[in-house]
Amino acid sequence: MAGYLSSDVRKVTTHRLTEMKQRGEKISMLTSYDYTMAQIVDGAGIDIILVGDSASNVMAGNVTTLPITIDQMIYHGKSVMRGVKRALVVVDMPFGTYQADAYDGVRNAIRIMKETHADSLKLEGGEEVIETVKKIIGAGIPVMGHLGLMPQSINKYGTYNVRAKEDAEAEKLVRDAHLLEEAGCFALVLEKIPAGLAARVASELTIPVIGIGAGGNVDGQVLVVTDMLGMTKGFSPKFLRRYADLHTIMTDAIGNYISDVKSGEFPNQSEQY
Ligand code: KIV
Repeated sequence: MAGYLSSDVRKVTTHRLTEMKQRGEKISMLTSYDYTMAQIVDGAGIDIILVGDSASNVMAGNVTTLPITIDQMIYHGKSVMRGVKRALVVVDMPFGTYQADAYDGVRNAIRIMKETHADSLKLEGGEEVIETVKKIIGAGIPVMGHLGLMPQSINKYGTYNVRAKEDAEAEKLVRDAHLLEEAGCFALVLEKIPAGLAARVASELTIPVIGIGAGGNVDGQVLVVTDMLGMTKGFSPKFLRRYADLHTIMTDAIGNYISDVKSGEFPNQSEQY
């Protein structure tokens, strides 16, 4: 995390993201939840780092994103911020911190920003949360919207299947996307919806639209970092491309360490004082 006047790196800003959309440059986004991963992801040149509430699944092992608390999201947000120099950092507002009313939402949004030093926040929903979104933006906090499959509503849907396949849900999604843009959101995530619908939203909006399972005709892509690195097993949705098989690499490395310890091969002469 840069201190006052100490950074020589040109940070990604919400303004730069808008310019990227205008010139047709795709935006790259990945999640991170801790300092070490954030340093690697940022150092590789990613545009946006999302401190996703998917931390509830991939860090804490919960079945859904619902249990993660604001204190836990702040811990992850602070850890990531210490590792980032260039990327724009977005922290997810966890379930229950903005749905009750706008006052609650703004108070929690301010707390997350003050304690993490993040650049912006993301929250799920359209019309239902629009007053809260407006008030958070009114407090000077950049907001990224999130429509389509909204994992915080899993108990309402009952499944993680593709959303907005039917006309009524698709039309509501388009309306919600416009409402979020009009409210002042700087970008929008669309999760697991038909590619044609996502393309329509991206072409109608002036703010960047970032897809996950939403096809290629949007302004950028986001994946969960532990999934795309192949650290997680047993989660293979169609949209997930694995860029590495870290599960195998890590398991082999740990297996080698165990056998070296057992055989006395580790440590050797040069690895002791
Ligand atoms: O929490 C998360 O990781 C997300 C992405 C799937 C967009 O919201």
